[in-house]
Amino acid sequence: MPKVDASNALNFLPENWLTGREADLTEAHAMLQEGRGPGSDFLGWVHLPENYDKEEYARIKAAAAKIRSDSQALVVIGIGGSYLGARAVIELLGSPNYNLCKKDGPEIYFVGNGLSTDAMLEVMEQLKGKDWSINVISKSGTTTEPAVAFRIFKAMLEEKYGKEGAKGRIYATTDAHKGALKGLADAEGYEEFVVPDDVGGRYSVLTAVGLLPIAAAGIDIDALMAGAHEAMETLAKPGMDNPAWQYAAARNGLYDGGKKIELLACYEPSFRFFAEWWKQLYGESEGKEGKGIFPASVEFTADLHSMGQYIQEGERHLFETVVRFAECNGQIIIPNDPDNVDGLNFLSGKPLSFVAEKAFQGVVLAHVDGGVPNLSVTVPKRTANAVGQLIYFFEYSCGLSGHLLKVNPFNQPGVEAYKKNMFALLGKPGYEDRKAELEARLNG
Ligand code: PA5
Repeated sequence: MPKVDASNALNFLPENWLTGREADLTEAHAMLQEGRGPGSDFLGWVHLPENYDKEEYARIKAAAAKIRSDSQALVVIGIGGSYLGARAVIELLGSPNYNLCKKDGPEIYFVGNGLSTDAMLEVMEQLKGKDWSINVISKSGTTTEPAVAFRIFKAMLEEKYGKEGAKGRIYATTDAHKGALKGLADAEGYEEFVVPDDVGGRYSVLTAVGLLPIAAAGIDIDALMAGAHEAMETLAKPGMDNPAWQYAAARNGLYDGGKKIELLACYEPSFRFFAEWWKQLYGESEGKEGKGIFPASVEFTADLHSMGQYIQEGERHLFETVVRFAECNGQIIIPNDPDNVDGLNFLSGKPLSFVAEKAFQGVVLAHVDGGVPNLSVTVPKRTANAVGQLIYFFEYSCGLSGHLLKVNPFNQPGVEAYKKNMFALLGKPGYEDRKAELEARLNG
């Protein structure tokens, strides 16, 4: 299980930061476990590592095997919760340079997560001369960015393989009953996977939304799910030694004390998109009703040479949560240089990880001295099992934390507001009144 260490935040927290929240944590925990409270329609993720659809899970594996056998590239179309989880896991367990690394599976390209023409052209260029498939993912089936991207890449695929050939290369992950994508997938006969009704986008990485691209990348989804299952069982036990209780209580205690921004830090470049996933999870779950910790992220040690100045001496509204992987995947020994021109022979024979460990320790002490409390979450190693645990740990902590903050952690009315404005401004039928109102404002 991820281990939470709040010892470097204690000077910034009241003595009863954990015990003083016992009653609220007990209630928040019960709401999650018993399926009640604000947002209770969206608690399918709580028992998902046990209650997932086994028949669909087998189809996910079969589809991934087919993609791996007939495609040199997979285009994954989705945005927000229909995108970040898959990319987070593929990069964390694979590489931030996944497509450049030598591997036996397809290259993975993520599109439909923005509206950049240049980015899309770049992916189109990469697909030239390759066999490829599409996994289009949208719970609502109507989000503009992925819908537009799907129209474009579907046309490309049909041009390459013909309409019939393309059908066998398109995998649609969407709502079980409704939405434009569901209608299209039914009509065209694509293989379909389901985003369960009771699982919101940002909690959906362990459904087909995340699992199909992750499995296509050759990652062991059994181990990922087993890790999540272990975490589900461990975190279901209420009490002060529950790491999710500790993390939720500490961050809320720091927030109450004026620390409004949480910097999620990691020393692994492969963690970058996991941090993006985490930002969506916490930002969408808690940022509402004029409340919520602002989730941000940094990559150490690189960002110590850019954001480090602000963290050390800027406005004191920050705290840090460092995710640490205790063990590396191998070892690099710093060589001896007989001339010692760079003066580094005091490090000769030491592993690079030793330098990283000392950097971590030095950074924590410096930042704490500078007024930035530090929490750490330690995970044994970058394995599929450990990452499954980490995913569930952050999800569960987020549910608890949102309840401590007294918001509904499972809705996202703010995201819907922008989507509606965009539909209106683009002239989508049914949005005529809103279009007129918005255009009057824009035209001053
Ligand atoms: O968490 C959310 O609900 C959002 O970020 C959605 O995942 C995102 O807007 C994409 O929505 P959809 O899957 O309906 O296309």
